[in-house]
Order: sequence, then structure tokens, then C-alpha cells
Amino acid sequence: MSIRINPSILSADFANLQAELQTIAAADLIHVDVMDNNFVPNLTFGQTMVTRLQEVTPLPLDLHLMIENPDRWAPVFAETGAFSVTFHVEAAEHPVTIARTLRSMGARAGLAIKPNTDVEQYLEILPEFDQLLVMTVEPGFGGQALIEHTLAKVATARRRIDAEKLDVWLQVDGGIDATNIERVAELGADTFVAGSAVFKADDRATQIELLRNKASQGASHRH
Ligand code: DX5
Ligand code: ZN
Repeated sequence: MSIRINPSILSADFANLQAELQTIAAADLIHVDVMDNNFVPNLTFGQTMVTRLQEVTPLPLDLHLMIENPDRWAPVFAETGAFSVTFHVEAAEHPVTIARTLRSMGARAGLAIKPNTDVEQYLEILPEFDQLLVMTVEPGFGGQALIEHTLAKVATARRRIDAEKLDVWLQVDGGIDATNIERVAELGADTFVAGSAVFKADDRATQIELLRNKASQGASHRH
């Protein structure tokens, strides 16, 4: 199983984003948290900013839309040329329609669930998606502690993905660091967002490698 480490630039210095992106060149994708002050009480990047970020990094962008009305806005973010667009099911009217639109535009489609949203009811529509994001903190801010009860959903989703041989990445986001990533990988996550764990490290490249190695270890212990 491939492991991906996606640093979240929510923890970067917003006044120096181009330089900050260069410090995480060892990453697999760049996680960009789009917030609208409605779905979550925080405001970050709009589509103009995302387009510009993609121009200054060779790495693919992994957009995490924490916004209301993704039915309208997810395609607008796909127009930036982002590699992947993940939206929250709690905000979506017609999640499958959004996913099909995203894919038709050439983006990978991702479905995100908040910590208190059950995963079972969405397992049926997983084949419509390229990624499932199980939030391991309440969306809105970096630097929070991982919520343990969310991890059962990672195991549930992994069982379904494997049983049906789905080509769906299983992403976790929130409170992931070197102390817990191995355990979360062992439960079946393969795509790891890390904000503060990467940006607070003295050497970000070394930290990304450490996270990747620990996740690979965890993945190798599965079964
Ligand atoms: C939170 C965001 C996360 C955040 C993670 O709403 O979705 O991507 O940046 O930050 P850490 O890794 O510090 O919990
Ligand atoms: Zn995120």
C-alpha cells in the first residue's frame, strides 16, 4: 500500500507561502484547507489564491473544502486545476452529483466526514469517489488533539475498501503526528494530513520522512 504525506499549509506562514512551500518539497501532495467562515468558524483561501498556489508548486494540490454549498462551489475549485477536491458530506445536497462533476472536470473527488458523522451510510457511494477523508479533529483549526473515537471509522472504511477492491485513498486529517501515525496506518489509513507536526519541526524534510517511515511500518503490520 502506498503511503502519502500531505502537509497542511494552514500551519504555514501565510505571509511567505511560496518559501514555505519550498520547505515541504519532500511531501506527496500539498493539503490546502479552504474555509468559508460558515461551515467552520475560520476563513482561509479562495479560488484565486488556490490557482496561484498551484502555479508556484510542482506538487499536486489536495483541496479540503470546509465550506457550505459544495454543490455550487466544488466545481469552481476544480477549475483551479487542483489534483483533488474533497468536500464535506454534511454540507452537500447531492454528493454523488458533485463527485461526478469533479471527475468529469479531471479532478479526483473526495468525500469528507466530521468526527461525529457515521461512515456506514456512505460506504455504498464510495465507488463514486477517489478519496474518503475521515476527520480526526473537528474541522476549523490546526494544532488540535486527535479524537480517538474517529479511528473506528478508519478501520470500518478500510475493510469495505479492501473487500470491494476499491481504488479509494483513505485519508485522515487532524492531530496526526509521529507519536500516533503508525497506529493510524495500522488501522488502514494510507493518506495522512499533518499541519503542525510538519510546520513546527526544525527540519521539515526530515519530519516528512519520519512520518512516512512510521506510516509504512504501521501499514506493514496490518492483517
Ligand atoms: C483542520 C484542517 C486540518 C489542519 C490539520 O480543520 O482540516 O487540515 O490543518 O492540522 P494539524 O495537523 O495541526 O491537526
Ligand atoms: Zn484539512
